[in-house]
Amino acid sequence: MSSEVRESEAWTVGRLLNWTRDFLRDKRIEQPQLCAQLLLAHALGCERLELYVRFEAVPDRVQLDAFRELVREAGLGRPIAHLIGRKEFFSLDFRITPEVLVPRPETETLVETALEIVRASGRPLVSILELCTGSGCVACAVASQLPEVRLVATDVSPEAVEVARGNIARHGFGDRIELRQGDLYEALEADSARFGVILANPPYVKTSDLSGMSADVARHEPTRALDGGSDGLEVVRRIVGGAADRLDVGGWLAVEIGYDQAATARELCSAAGLSNVRLVKDGLGHERVIAGQRS
Ligand SMILES: C[S@@+](CC[C@H](N)C(=O)[O-])C[C@H]1O[C@@H](n2cnc3c(N)ncnc32)[C@H](O)[C@@H]1O
Repeated sequence: MSSEVRESEAWTVGRLLNWTRDFLRDKRIEQPQLCAQLLLAHALGCERLELYVRFEAVPDRVQLDAFRELVREAGLGRPIAHLIGRKEFFSLDFRITPEVLVPRPETETLVETALEIVRASGRPLVSILELCTGSGCVACAVASQLPEVRLVATDVSPEAVEVARGNIARHGFGDRIELRQGDLYEALEADSARFGVILANPPYVKTSDLSGMSADVARHEPTRALDGGSDGLEVVRRIVGGAADRLDVGGWLAVEIGYDQAATARELCSAAGLSNVRLVKDGLGHERVIAGQRS
């Protein structure tokens, strides 16, 4: 830590938090205070909120060394979720590795859309297909709120499927969420099942935009989770195009999209014969989810 600070002062939890918050802010890391708390709680092996009752405590040398290394890596742009191996999403805790996308707050809009569709349908026993599950966060969040639904969750990445498997087991949804590995609907293979709802947060960044993304995203998150091809919509196009063959009559598709993709996504849904197409805004006011119904 900084030599500007008098060495006679002990490195208490409170002082470490303040120093680290300022350091991360200078490095332009988003939410520096929260990040400082998450890193220190991880180094001390406690929950974030416990830090408040330990403000005057002085961590031991091993803990300080571990914390210093975490802060150094965070300053270089490594995602906090990778450093501590976890991320909260929809008030659930998920294990995260570099093989999966770190769950984003805007993806909670996809979960909320799914909950609204199921509740409005009056069919609590509906079966749901989630494509592109990654860490399994969307499937688990939906399962946590709708105790009667059953889900099939798929991903093309075998590594992601293993991370999702761990998260599903950890939250006790192993008997309600079935995992399959494969390319979009092909993961269902000969299975002719249809679903009441299909959900997806697919890769939707234009290939040419990937290099312009912030250092921690572009360098540390899997390209396969982000790269949506030349117009960003290559995977979205395939998901929308194949939905009618996998939806029950009256079933709904809901897909997360980029903030500037609403108009094209709407055209894709119309071309695929979906009706009642609507857009749902995220917390920042961006049209983030497109939903359409099979007539
Ligand atoms: C944007 S991430 C979403 C992960 C997670 N659902 C979330 O919201 O945090 C996209 C995921 O889609 C998967 N994926 C990419 N192309 C795919 C394809 N053709 N078929 C199935 N999954 C695919 C990636 O491996 C990645 O896990």
